[in-house]
Amino acid sequence: MQQCRPSRWRRLFMPCLLAVSCTAAQAQSVQVLHWWKSLSEQQAVNLLTTKLAQDNLQWRDGLVPSGSGVGASIVLKSRILAGNAPEAAQLNGVLVSEWAELGLLLDIDSVAQSGKWEKNLFPKVWNLIQVKNHVVAAPLGVHRINTLFYNKKIFSKLELEPPASWEEFDQLIPKLQQAGITPLAQSSEIWQVATLFETVLLSVSNPAFYQDVFVRKQPSAFMDARFAQALKRLRLLKKAMPNPVPDKLWMDLSRQLADGQAAMLIMGDWVKGELNALGQGTDVGFSCLAVPGTAAYHIYDVDTLVMLAKDNSKRSAQEKLAQWVVSPALQQEYNQVKGSIPVLRNADTGKMDSCARNAWKVFSSGAAAQVPSFAHRMATDEISRDAMMNEIHRFFMDDQMTVGEAQKRMATMVRALPKNKAGNDAQDTNR
Ligand code: BGC
Repeated sequence: MQQCRPSRWRRLFMPCLLAVSCTAAQAQSVQVLHWWKSLSEQQAVNLLTTKLAQDNLQWRDGLVPSGSGVGASIVLKSRILAGNAPEAAQLNGVLVSEWAELGLLLDIDSVAQSGKWEKNLFPKVWNLIQVKNHVVAAPLGVHRINTLFYNKKIFSKLELEPPASWEEFDQLIPKLQQAGITPLAQSSEIWQVATLFETVLLSVSNPAFYQDVFVRKQPSAFMDARFAQALKRLRLLKKAMPNPVPDKLWMDLSRQLADGQAAMLIMGDWVKGELNALGQGTDVGFSCLAVPGTAAYHIYDVDTLVMLAKDNSKRSAQEKLAQWVVSPALQQEYNQVKGSIPVLRNADTGKMDSCARNAWKVFSSGAAAQVPSFAHRMATDEISRDAMMNEIHRFFMDDQMTVGEAQKRMATMVRALPKNKAGNDAQDTNR
């Protein structure tokens, strides 16, 4: 922070001037812990930083690089335990209520009230950011997980059509491989496998069954034929991936798609932001589709910032940050860079590209289309998520494990996991 120590001479003879210049120099600041490290994520952070600076609020960067926030949550926990919490943090989904219930989050009720968030936000988002009738998070954007990206140049050069079903997807595999192209880019990282699997599960079932598995964790759902089908489909998809599947960062996979080494990628639409940042225009270098069988649904992952409450000394800066992220001026630009859609229901769809417009259409159609992302913390508590993700990953990595064996392992394991208290969505419980 800038020092403001006037000389004795200035103190005596220029008190007014001094008052003005000191106020101007003393920008408020907030340290924000987050995991946005890729090219587009950094562009999004830079945009936030610049806008806030124009309003005399300094964003002190607390970057902990880690796809989907694996490392960032650990660092946040240890900093809170050490009494050294940042003033704000990127915290998503169920984790928001877990921290709020421990009394660690500052309420931003007055910001929500003055910004008319209840009226302006999508009801799903509004619901998500409240714990025990207090608003405890400022929402930035809504990502869609069930997105299939494809390289347009490859498809047009080989005269191929993007897949509308898994059968069509399977038919593409040999054609792309013969051309020396990896059909589907994929990483063996646990969260990336889980991101693919949740989409596959929805594609072979429906939102109610998806929630039986990931929200309600019903042991019988894991023994269901639809769960078996999803595991089989996951294994079949491996035929379209490099063997062995490499342990790559998601931004490296985006680059493979942009460079034409890979033809397709199934991932949250932050990949769109990244492809744009790599110079690939939407519907020029690449396009996006809903994953086969999921066009009517939007697996959502809402990015939110929470304010950590040590005392009230930073409250005005924290409230200013919360107010900014939800402002229409920032929402539109930020989400364009990030690849997500705005959290405001009256956002201007005319300014969106085809991927965002499509995601917007489905998400805004209402609750029946909205499915909480398991891998991105929207569906269940952190312990259950980790345990289930590990089992899915084990099956993915071990081709010797039978589908039946994986089903039994998971059905047995979920019996021991914490139960969500009530409701359809895990985030809705307790609220
Ligand atoms: C976050 C996104 C982020 C992605 C990759 C997701 O969990 O919601 O904002 O871009 O992880 O790190």
